[in-house]
Amino acid sequence: MADNFDAIVIGGGPGGYNAAIRLGQLGLTSACIDKRGSFGGTCLNIGCIPSKALLHASERFQEAKEDFAKLGIKTKVELDLPAMMAQKTKVVGELTKGVEFLLKKAKSEAIVGEARITAAPSNASLGKVEVKGADGNIRNLIAKYIIIATGSDVAPLPGVTIDEKQIVSSTGALALTSVPRKLLVVGAGVIGLELGSVWKRLGAEVTVVEFLDRVTPGIDGEVGKAFQRILTKQGFTFQLSTKVTGVEKKGCGGLKVTVEPAAGGDKSVIDCDVMLVAIGRIAYTANLGLLEVGVAMDKRGRIVTDEHYKTNVAGIYAVGDCREGPMLAHKAEDEAVACAELIAGKASHVNYDVIPSVVYTFPEVATVGKSEEELKAAGVQYKVGKFPFTANARAKTIMATDGLVKILADAKTDKILGCAIIGPEAGNLIAEVVLAMEFGASSEDIARTCHSHPTLTEAVRQAAMGVEGWTMQM
Ligand code: FAD
Ligand code: NAI
Repeated sequence: MADNFDAIVIGGGPGGYNAAIRLGQLGLTSACIDKRGSFGGTCLNIGCIPSKALLHASERFQEAKEDFAKLGIKTKVELDLPAMMAQKTKVVGELTKGVEFLLKKAKSEAIVGEARITAAPSNASLGKVEVKGADGNIRNLIAKYIIIATGSDVAPLPGVTIDEKQIVSSTGALALTSVPRKLLVVGAGVIGLELGSVWKRLGAEVTVVEFLDRVTPGIDGEVGKAFQRILTKQGFTFQLSTKVTGVEKKGCGGLKVTVEPAAGGDKSVIDCDVMLVAIGRIAYTANLGLLEVGVAMDKRGRIVTDEHYKTNVAGIYAVGDCREGPMLAHKAEDEAVACAELIAGKASHVNYDVIPSVVYTFPEVATVGKSEEELKAAGVQYKVGKFPFTANARAKTIMATDGLVKILADAKTDKILGCAIIGPEAGNLIAEVVLAMEFGASSEDIARTCHSHPTLTEAVRQAAMGVEGWTMQM
């Protein structure tokens, strides 16, 4: 294959593969390089997809154990963990192969190897990237444009060594070979609560230690409180405002974890079998040659770009988790498409005001736009409409009445400014509000739109009606 491309994309995750595919659709040749050996990045291999497969399977397991009898279905339920893991692996395999197929279709050469930029593109010469294959062989590629989409990695907990067996990151927590009796989760963020839910449903006792005084910081405070209450009802134990100060492996195979109040104070010990470290992720830019070619990074190690994804070095771009913004697959994907279109000379942009965020627990938590706290801090006058799932007919029929929909709209113009949903299918329900916000809709637009009955979407409509105070409660 030729070693001269229009663009070289480093990273085969949602940022990388979507950039390469869009470039191909626009008639530009590219190479998409990933060192992992399987395309799809964190998302497909060790992130979104395997976690959602296990969340689905474990939710069905718990449902069969606890809810089927209430529906008049008698079952004898038994866990087959190897089969559950095999289904997850199968899905991952199919999807990663799918990415390779899509790259091929877009005439992008998928190359497995570790890439390093050895020269930036300039008016006089093309940019150069060296790729080291697993066999140690080096291949040199040249291109007018280089897109960096190297993603992110697990944020380390100082003094704690992750072995991915007993002290695990999300990667190890997605591949445990038995259900831990006691699981200690460090960090009440998205990963901690999703993967904590998986192992809780499969039988583990789960304790979550969180540095701050609340779960899922950043999510609307009222919804965050409801979330913690619901998870506590499900059996989670939370130790908020607490930090882990040490961990010791015990002779019998367990772990002794030392914690103390975040503000300092008396230490105490938590015994567990497995500890999951989920305290955030950091941009991954190691061994890329960025310092050598002079690409600027911020204090958090993220690549700095302008709104067109251009770094300070001409011809080098960055998208996805390795630059600022929420670390989400759909954000990476949208940036990738916009970046490819801009390179191809088209107008394109991403609307960062309407990027939804979903926690795939049960119930799900979905948000978009501003939270009530953010509006207050910004001094924006707003109105609130809320609707509880206890008053939604469909939620009752499916025995999923925990949660509510909350819509925030501008007090004067009624333009929707934000939405937070905790409840069944929240991740799907939020799409209606995202689209409405993309079109600059008012809460009245949703309130006066006919919604099918009986559906969960009626709860969204009722919350929108609530903004003007005409919710119809049952
Ligand atoms: P990545 O997907 O991280 O891809 C970067 C790729 O670059 C990697 O494959 C890496 O091997 C490769 N690479 C790095 N350096 C080099 C190099 N020098 N040479 C060659 N290749 C290199 N987001 C959601 O939106 N929804 C979810 O449900 C969700 N669930 C998640 C669950 C977990 C457990 C985790 C960890 C993350 C989850 N995320 C989720 C976040 C999501 O995975 C990321 O936001 C997304 O993958 C970012 O895409 P990216 O392309 O920027 O980076
Ligand atoms: P997170 O940022 O969501 O949560 C980390 C939590 O750890 C925070 O609550 C933080 O206060 C806490 N914390 C930080 N340091 C701590 C310490 N020393 N001790 C105790 N608690 C501490 O990060 P998480 O869960 O690791 O996820 C990383 C990223 O992956 C997220 O930013 C998210 O965007 C992405 N992701 C998205 C998913 C989704 O969209 N459903 C699912 C999983 C991950």
